[in-house]
Amino acid sequence: MTTGYPTLDGALAPVAYAGDRVDVLDQTRLPARAEVLRIATPGQMADAIRRLAVRGAPAIGIAAAYGIVLAAQESCAPEHIASAAQVLRAARPTAVNLGWALDRMLATFASHVDAEPAAIRAALLAEAQLIHREDVRGNRRIGELGAALLAQGARALTICNTGALATGGYGTALGVVRSAWAQRKIELVYVCETRPLLQGARLTAWELGHEGIPFRLVADSAAGALLALGGADVVLVGADRIARNGDTANKIGTYTLAVLAARHRVPFYVVAPTSTLDPDTPSGAEIPIEERDEREVLAFHGQPVAPPGARAWNPAFDVTPHELITAIVTERGVLSPPYDESIPAAVA
Ligand code: MRU
Repeated sequence: MTTGYPTLDGALAPVAYAGDRVDVLDQTRLPARAEVLRIATPGQMADAIRRLAVRGAPAIGIAAAYGIVLAAQESCAPEHIASAAQVLRAARPTAVNLGWALDRMLATFASHVDAEPAAIRAALLAEAQLIHREDVRGNRRIGELGAALLAQGARALTICNTGALATGGYGTALGVVRSAWAQRKIELVYVCETRPLLQGARLTAWELGHEGIPFRLVADSAAGALLALGGADVVLVGADRIARNGDTANKIGTYTLAVLAARHRVPFYVVAPTSTLDPDTPSGAEIPIEERDEREVLAFHGQPVAPPGARAWNPAFDVTPHELITAIVTERGVLSPPYDESIPAAVA
């Protein structure tokens, strides 16, 4: 473990290849400490994903891709690579980017399986870095397309963390905010604190502060009052998986925001790369939703917030039905309903 930030092409990145290891900025420690984990094995990478040291759908996929690079440093035997992929795939169930990135890595491995180990390792590293760079490039395009949807002086409401930390290094919903801010189009960002693990308070506030973008943190339960009072002009959220019909799994509390946005006629945009689209999953009903340890709700940073013996239910994500989504902003364009036509077309 060390301090300082991993970077890609000079910009903050949640993960970075560093020779015989992969550096992961430990997001469980932010904002108090910037600690970098030195990950040397695919098992350590799966553990970092599981315990949210690296989190956010695109970042999870990129981290898993580097996990396969680490596996190949141990052995290029097909059964070793397959078993590493299996361990990484099982780390978290909802983000489709995880399996998407692993499938790309396994396809690269399959096409080099008869090569020398050094050539296999080089091909896998090149593919992982391509996945990483493509995500950043796509995020920047998403930022431009999303910013064009916002009115001058927009006040946005967001949830969780969808910025550099959650992606290759720019952001999806927060990438739109960054691009709109660069155009002096955005006035203020309201950030839901995002219980139980406070990705909004700990990570999004940290990123916005670094970027100098004005924001106000709100308790998740303040979102209704904010929208009822006309305090936000747009809701921007990320996604962990978007089913073929547009139903979208994202951080728990996103569905609540979508219902509120519809009630108050505020546009609700899902912002995600096409690697988050899952045309093989027909609807939200088939999206696996991760349930996490109830202790995440019952305590915070080891401090109990409920009486001894209290029980909790802790789904990490909810599903927003497609009819509540104004549009889906991807790097291949802004997708409009009917999504069961626009989503398959975007990934064709
Ligand atoms: O549990 P997390 O922190 O991984 O949840 C992340 C989210 O819900 C994000 O909104 C989503 O992954 C998109 S990140 C660009």
